[in-house]
Amino acid sequence: MGIQFGGDYNPEQWPEEVWAEDLKLMKAAHVTMVTAGIFSWAKVEPRPGEWDFGWFDRVMDGLAGAGIAVCLATMTASPPPWLSRAHPEILPEGPDGQRRWPGGRQHYCPSSPVYRAHAVRLVEQLATRYAGHPALTMWHVGNEYGCHTRQCFCEVSADDFRRWLRTRYESVDALNAAWSTAFWSQAYGDFDEVLPPRTAPTFPNPAQQLDYLRFGDEALRACYLAEKAVLTRLTPEVPITTNLMPQHKPVDAFAWSAHMDAMALDFYQDPYASDDHIRAGYVFDLMRSARSGQPWMLLEQAPSAVNWRPRNGPKPPGAMRLWSWQAVAQGADAVLYFQWRQSLGGAEKFHSAMLPHGGTDTRIFREVADLGRELASLPGIEGTRSRAEVALLADWHSWWALELDSKPSTALDHSRIALDHYRPLFEAGVACDVVPPQRELSGYRLVVVPNLYLLTMSGAERLAAYVRAGGQLLVSFFSGIVDAHDRVHPGGYPAPLRELLGLRVEEFWPLDAGRSVSVGGGAYTGRADLWSEAIDLEGAEALAHFTTGELAGRPVVTRHTYGQGTAWYAGTRLDAALMRALLDDIRAAAGVLPVLPGLPAGVQATVREGADERYVFLLNHGAEAVEVDLPAPMRDALAAQDAAGATGRVALAARGVAVLTDPVG
Ligand code: GLA
Repeated sequence: MGIQFGGDYNPEQWPEEVWAEDLKLMKAAHVTMVTAGIFSWAKVEPRPGEWDFGWFDRVMDGLAGAGIAVCLATMTASPPPWLSRAHPEILPEGPDGQRRWPGGRQHYCPSSPVYRAHAVRLVEQLATRYAGHPALTMWHVGNEYGCHTRQCFCEVSADDFRRWLRTRYESVDALNAAWSTAFWSQAYGDFDEVLPPRTAPTFPNPAQQLDYLRFGDEALRACYLAEKAVLTRLTPEVPITTNLMPQHKPVDAFAWSAHMDAMALDFYQDPYASDDHIRAGYVFDLMRSARSGQPWMLLEQAPSAVNWRPRNGPKPPGAMRLWSWQAVAQGADAVLYFQWRQSLGGAEKFHSAMLPHGGTDTRIFREVADLGRELASLPGIEGTRSRAEVALLADWHSWWALELDSKPSTALDHSRIALDHYRPLFEAGVACDVVPPQRELSGYRLVVVPNLYLLTMSGAERLAAYVRAGGQLLVSFFSGIVDAHDRVHPGGYPAPLRELLGLRVEEFWPLDAGRSVSVGGGAYTGRADLWSEAIDLEGAEALAHFTTGELAGRPVVTRHTYGQGTAWYAGTRLDAALMRALLDDIRAAAGVLPVLPGLPAGVQATVREGADERYVFLLNHGAEAVEVDLPAPMRDALAAQDAAGATGRVALAARGVAVLTDPVG
């Protein structure tokens, strides 16, 4: 089958004569799969209950005739104008009570029974009509849930929230206890008194906000699941997915993963950010880990520029190829783009496409077609998997709670802190999984916990059990502070982790914007910013101290032997070099090696393995050509050479890629 290659296909934007050319050029570009129909609702149902699928039949038949697989969208991402006119109550409202009007897309309240009923009706039509169609390969439900309408605060949502709370808490007393409503005279006498956390004179109740984030995620998921139920009933053999977004706060990718047959991601690397491939690395690892190593799909990326950043430069030559191979190297079995043919009108006419305004005689089309050919030349990668000895923990509930207002510092940014911890592992060439706190940890030699503010007692016990059994654990500042309801764990910070870490935190000293302090201790000498805290040792040893600032002389990096393992702690945000030094030492203690020894700076290396084959991917993210020495000769499957040829040294141009396999025979 090979790695799937293609993009979003929006034929309704074009007269039918163009479609034949589309098919011809798709073949020329080695397209194997398109995602079709994402925004076709208004065209297939121009008036309520009046269906016009004839044109879409021809699209599907044409694609089938060309041997192109269709990941068929359920078309529900942008309700048609007649629906919001007939039912304005489907329109979402912001926390300020302001309605969000039609005119863009995703203008629906996720809790709206009217929206859901119309969506389900459409999906029933689609699934009935295209069940068994030779092109139908997968279902693509909705589109980027929560991208524009992250949460809705309308009356319909309020009712749905109250229903959700009744199920969760059963009694209003339990709700009052969980939400600490004794504070500020907020005690409820009845569930009917509860509202969404709308804009209030001051900070709305944090536990209420946290539950609303949970509810919002579940409301979006309920839309997905309502459509999925129809598809499972009518086309049980067709796998189902939806395109998630990277580090997307409203949608808990781990919770969704259980309901997806394959993880799918839209990722738009920023050509102006020199290190965006590291953010990509983190998100790709999360996608692969979410379903325990199952290959995932890069469902959208840009062939070149996007239209939605303030300044939208093209991807320089080779960058699109490199970043596409990065997805494959990190476990993707599909590389698709937004979109096939560049629109002439509408909001995305300056967003690049596989087939640009300039046609086939363009750098973009050539690079796309070359990549299509290259991917097609290497069947066998799909289905292979990677192994990692390091796990980095990520948890949406902690993220939601951390970034609520009224904290010691509102500068703590979950995504940024996660990357601070991921970067040194990526740069050291170490394979890493990104997993939720509930995941079994015993198979990992090292577990990294960046800033897990919300931690349940059972979550803390799992970490302790992991270390007791011999694991190496790094925990960072402001972790283990509150329970699932954003209530501080009693017993001194971080109460659930004190025994494991061998310390207590007496006071938080967040650092002011632009302020940094010095840290000293042998190899651990450098700067720190963002956060500091007053640590008392309770069995741990100090590896480094603050040397300037109010906390000069107090420990900041500690190590504690616990059972058979070791718990390390960092009570600040260490600068990048310090973070690297610390993680290098912890890795050495854990016996975790990089994928390849002696990798030049900027080169990423990963491995995917199947029953009989092994692929080593080398990706040069740097601006200079480099050479990489291999421990044993391998064959570069992308280089023109005789099949049995093998080399012990690989030359990589700037933005160069090599896919190495073991020599034949
Ligand atoms: C998202 C959407 C697409 C398109 C692209 C543009 O990924 O899913 O419909 O708008 O962004 O980058």
